[in-house]
Amino acid sequence: MNVLHWWTSASERKAADYLADRLQDEGVTWQDAAIPGGAGVGAMKVLKSRVLLGKAPDASQLIGPAISEWADLGLLLELDNVARRGNWNDKLFPTVNSLIRLRGHVVAAPLGIHRINTLFYNQGLFTKLGLAPPHTWADFDHAAEALSRIGVTPLAQSTEPWQIATLFETLLLSETGPAFYRDLLVRRNANSWFDPRVSRALERLRKLKRWMPQQLSERPWQDEASDLAHGKAAMWIMGDWGKGELQAQGLTPGDQFGCIAVPGTADAHLYSIDTFVMFTGDYGNQAAQEKLAQLVASPQVQAGYNRIKGSVPVRRDVDPSTLDPCARQSWMAFARGAAVQAPSLVHRMATDEALKDAIVSLIRRYFMDDHIPTSELQRRIASVVRALSQEGNSYDSQDTGR
Ligand code: BGC
Repeated sequence: MNVLHWWTSASERKAADYLADRLQDEGVTWQDAAIPGGAGVGAMKVLKSRVLLGKAPDASQLIGPAISEWADLGLLLELDNVARRGNWNDKLFPTVNSLIRLRGHVVAAPLGIHRINTLFYNQGLFTKLGLAPPHTWADFDHAAEALSRIGVTPLAQSTEPWQIATLFETLLLSETGPAFYRDLLVRRNANSWFDPRVSRALERLRKLKRWMPQQLSERPWQDEASDLAHGKAAMWIMGDWGKGELQAQGLTPGDQFGCIAVPGTADAHLYSIDTFVMFTGDYGNQAAQEKLAQLVASPQVQAGYNRIKGSVPVRRDVDPSTLDPCARQSWMAFARGAAVQAPSLVHRMATDEALKDAIVSLIRRYFMDDHIPTSELQRRIASVVRALSQEGNSYDSQDTGR
């Protein structure tokens, strides 16, 4: 069966191969359609054009509210029987259950939950300088000062638009908390963009440049994992697919590197949930598609896949003591429920593609050009939010904590 996704880094490839092997064990061959590009920037475009050409894959990675949009068009296979047999209603986290359902039908199969508000640090460098992992921004600056004094880049960062915006959304969460974050990005409250806490998050985004490499460039995120692994950079703020990549480079979490929540976000979980949807086509591949859906949500595959990928299981019936320290923190934070959860804007959980792309590119321009006043950026984003919200609805229904 043809599977479209954007997992092309070393760890992502290993995780996809793990799924392909499990599927093969069941007699189904995974025909790979990987589209390179972090955060699926290219893959989503390819998926759209394949569907329009009548060449939809059998399964595809598709994230967030887009699942309901595509299901609404009648393109997705209903997986109700698989979900019933696997007792997904009881076994999955409520937020996951609500994400994969439309009007009572299950239309996607969940893979794993990524935590975006993750700060990685190189344990060797921290030990050498007697530094503690930073839980506040003051601790962060203190550690960064000490690191830069010995010639190490304190914070890895690329200028790829999605990577800058990923950093921004964690800073926004740090300044404001999950309730404000959801009001701003899920309910699309345009006026909230003028809140002084948003100004502070934006200003921190620029201030952090001081700790980043002198020559910033559009590097793929895997290169930053290498810098952290080799001690060229000491800290890195990135979704926990970064953990998968550090592991693929031979490092062990809690040993050569550590992860903590980004300062000020320990009580929150900025999440993105990877999911597969199945395209109906002529229903000729239904048995294989159901097999893939059943496999990915099963306890064994959940444990094996998420360990490689860096994410955590979508299931509630996991013994956290079996998880590594990074995964344990993430899974336990998510398990506290909807009040602490914030859906990632950049990783497609909060709003539609058009608004996400507009905000991401405005944030990048602001980051790259220090001449743009913060208030001007806030004004620009608020007007884009208003313009795009007149056309469609917000995703408030995603936000009921079910
Ligand atoms: C996806 C991850 C992926 C990451 C980097 C995120 O949007 O949810 O599965 O590893 O992008 O490509």
